[in-house]
Amino acid sequence: MGDAKRVRSVAVVGAGAAGAITAAALKAENYFERIQVFERRETPGGTWIFDSDPKPSLAIRPGRLPPDVDPPLEIPKELPQVTAPNRQERFSKTPIYNSLTTNVPDIAMCFSDRRFAYGPFAPHYVPRQYVENYFSQHKTDDLLVLNTTVEDITKLKDPSPSSSSSSSQNQNGRERWQLTLRKYDPARHVDVWWQETFDAVILANGHYSVPYIPHVPGLEEYIQKFPGRVMHSKYYRSPLPYAGKRVLVVGNSASGHDLTAELVSAAALPVLQSRRTPSRWDGAAPPPGIAWKPVIRSYLPASGRILFADGTHADDVDVVVYCTGYKTSFPFWDGERGENGGPLWDYGADKLARAYWHTFFRDHATLGIVGLPRALTFRSFEYQAIALARLFSGRNAAPLPPDAEQERWERDRLDRVRRRGTKFHDVQWETGETFEWLEGLFRIAGLGTLKGDGRVPPALTEELIWAVEHVRKYPEPGKGGEGYDNEESGDAERDVVVSGEIEKAGAARDGDWVLVERQHKDLLAFI
Ligand SMILES: Cc1cc2nc3c(=O)[nH]c(=O)nc-3n(C[C@H](O)[C@H](O)[C@H](O)COP(=O)(O)OP(=O)(O)OC[C@H]3O[C@@H](n4cnc5c(N)ncnc54)[C@H](O)[C@@H]3O)c2cc1C
Ligand SMILES: NC(=O)c1ccc[n+]([C@@H]2O[C@H](COP(=O)([O-])OP(=O)(O)OC[C@H]3O[C@@H](n4cnc5c(N)ncnc54)[C@H](OP(=O)(O)O)[C@@H]3O)[C@@H](O)[C@H]2O)c1
Repeated sequence: MGDAKRVRSVAVVGAGAAGAITAAALKAENYFERIQVFERRETPGGTWIFDSDPKPSLAIRPGRLPPDVDPPLEIPKELPQVTAPNRQERFSKTPIYNSLTTNVPDIAMCFSDRRFAYGPFAPHYVPRQYVENYFSQHKTDDLLVLNTTVEDITKLKDPSPSSSSSSSQNQNGRERWQLTLRKYDPARHVDVWWQETFDAVILANGHYSVPYIPHVPGLEEYIQKFPGRVMHSKYYRSPLPYAGKRVLVVGNSASGHDLTAELVSAAALPVLQSRRTPSRWDGAAPPPGIAWKPVIRSYLPASGRILFADGTHADDVDVVVYCTGYKTSFPFWDGERGENGGPLWDYGADKLARAYWHTFFRDHATLGIVGLPRALTFRSFEYQAIALARLFSGRNAAPLPPDAEQERWERDRLDRVRRRGTKFHDVQWETGETFEWLEGLFRIAGLGTLKGDGRVPPALTEELIWAVEHVRKYPEPGKGGEGYDNEESGDAERDVVVSGEIEKAGAARDGDWVLVERQHKDLLAFI
């Protein structure tokens, strides 16, 4: 970047693990004049903050996506401004339940320069304390702006029409980002609104906030007929409220697995579990107290009956707990505003729009995102954060490839994940994709300076790799706790698709068929 284009100020959105490492990486560059980390909660920690009272549990809107359920707030016309406090739900509480422990060995989950207090699998408050401490240990706690929600991010239009700079830059030749911020002032019970401008923005806003419940025929009517009967795992805290109740859990990923296992101790048996795809830890038959069902075909509100894809049914279900995951939400991004140039997220393909390497944006050189891929969590955020910090300080070892190459990467990846039947941002471990991805970030970042400015991307050590492949929270039936062996598990791999849902293959969305080569849960698919 030429001098006039240098990034001097950076805003980070979110103070979870991704925000913590991003702040540390930016600060380590010893280059930026202003770094601010905006966090809507009262403390850093992100997902790992425990909200013992998960309310409000909202009206359930099956099949609805974040643009519908998590719309932007109306921004006051004049800023700065003080208004009555916002009443619209922003999904800022977390899904942590009482008994939750981490599911990735701590050596692979934590950042490279600090271990968790203990491991390998720690209670939820350990990573929360870790994230909070990480800010103070790196003296980035003074960069935090807490209780402050980023309500809008707009790339500014070029203020001088005669300027020879590109339309996305201001007259100094820099891209500039205007953030609209809202801080709740508890002493006065008001929202304070204002705006700030930065040279660059890094999104670290997480993607497990807005719960998702799929559309199923009859479900909306069933919810109306039986209010409170259908819920999402985000609002589950313990098995106590389900004592003696007949429960149907939908989903068998980490939440579905944990909740079903825990509910066996309290609910009426068997606990029913509806599965679409067998998980690695499912085995050939359900554990005692659990009965497996395929996907739900429909709800019959008149009788309360629930029909499954194999023609069987369940009556007298007291609670249906949807453990069907979350949808990424960017309510602060209006594609029509300023030079934003379109949406950030493509809900059809369930991926970032016009992005590169899960981290960079083809249309916005000074925008980045940390924490999105389903991969090693904290540790992979570290590579993303260092690459972005180095890129913005102009000290990166390798430039990003030209736009055409970035576009080719996006096309090739789409093609690959469609054939494989996985999601765009699921970065697999067993196929070597994680290594390829981190290596790419490693190369872009390169070293810091001789004087010690800038973090150096860490090594993925043998010890770490061994832990990922051998230290398991969930035993895998028939695998003796050892690494996954494809030949040995050939049958399990073929025994995959339970559902008749075409959408799962990621194929039919565009109306064209794609042959899914194999559909097998990656070693880290549960992360
Ligand atoms: C129930 C559950 C269990 C999990 N267990 C594991 C596990 O065992 N191991 C593992 O590796 N991973 C686990 N994960 C994944 C977990 O999300 C990651 O470990 C990691 O915490 C993600 O960090 P993040 O910073 O990207 O996102 P988050 O932790 O979600 O942090 C994002 C932050 O951004 C803030 N924010 C969002 N929007 C705004 C805005 N507009 N303005 C200001 N602030 C904003 C949020 O309040 C939040 O604090 C789990 C996830 C869930 C939901
Ligand atoms: N530390 C822990 O122990 C712990 C506990 C809970 C959650 N977590 C984390 O929290 C995050 C979210 O996990 P999650 O389990 O809540 O969500 P998830 O991993 O996204 O899993 C969603 C589940 O819902 C199923 N599903 C989705 N859409 C469906 C549909 N239309 N019909 C039928 N089934 C459908 C999926 O089936 P398919 O497999 O067929 O797609 C899958 O079983 C992950 O990062 C996870 O690691 C961690």
